Amino acid sequence: MSIAIIGGTGPQGKGLALRFARAGIDVVIGSRDGEKAEQDAKDMSQLLPSGSASIKGMDNIEATKTVPEIVIFAVPFSAHEVTLLALKPHLEGKILVDIVVPLAPGNPKAVEMPDEGSATEAAQALLGESIPVVGALHNVSAVTLNDLDHAINCDVLVCGNQLAAKKTVMALIDQLGVRTYNAGLADSARCIEAITPILIRLNISKDVPFSHAGIGVLPPQA
Ligand SMILES: NC(=O)c1ccc[n+]([C@@H]2O[C@H](COP(=O)([O-])OP(=O)(O)OC[C@H]3O[C@@H](n4cnc5c(N)ncnc54)[C@H](OP(=O)(O)O)[C@@H]3O)[C@@H](O)[C@H]2O)c1
Repeated sequence: MSIAIIGGTGPQGKGLALRFARAGIDVVIGSRDGEKAEQDAKDMSQLLPSGSASIKGMDNIEATKTVPEIVIFAVPFSAHEVTLLALKPHLEGKILVDIVVPLAPGNPKAVEMPDEGSATEAAQALLGESIPVVGALHNVSAVTLNDLDHAINCDVLVCGNQLAAKKTVMALIDQLGVRTYNAGLADSARCIEAITPILIRLNISKDVPFSHAGIGVLPPQA
């Protein structure tokens, strides 16, 4: 199995690439610059324990074309629409996993949602119903992902309008050793994406005695 991560040269994409490769899933990281992606992939491969799957680097379009089914989308929100328009012709038959949080420009403690309601819904509207969009992984910190010595400290809320696509993505993310929850249709992304700036606020706060907080769905106390 192999997956692509578009914008995979950023901290979030790199952390996910390392985690998935260590879990045995081949990863292609994408960049606007294929040579940069190749070099980053080589550097990241040095960080993986033996027995891991591969990390390769290509430009964003080639990365999308190369993988059979799952494309994770990890660019800043400012590049969301333009990058999706370029990828769209190559996404037929695939699932787009949108992890993008529309943080307010200049203020990471707030979101500024697009007219569609959320980045996930904007992606679904742009791509059309024949390309399922699944929102996921919005609330996991890049620092946590890149720290391979520790487990990922949170649960993952997954949303989207097509159940089969959601189940495929949940099965993929489960392989990172986290719990995934079906959080509903794509409009749930309005809430899920908006959690991230709250976590950023907590991480910055001197009143909270830790950083890189994660969210959890807890059972009742025994
Ligand atoms: N960082 C976190 O802790 C975190 C947590 C949860 C969710 N997220 C979400 O995950 C996504 C990626 O986060 P990140 O921190 O890795 O972001 P980032 O470093 O700002 O960007 C990721 C990659 O996107 C590409 N990119 C940057 N500007 C672009 C543009 N104008 N057009 C096309 N591509 C562009 C760059 O790759 P190339 O220059 O190689 O093309 C860059 O390495 C964001 O949407 C963020 O909201 C991040």
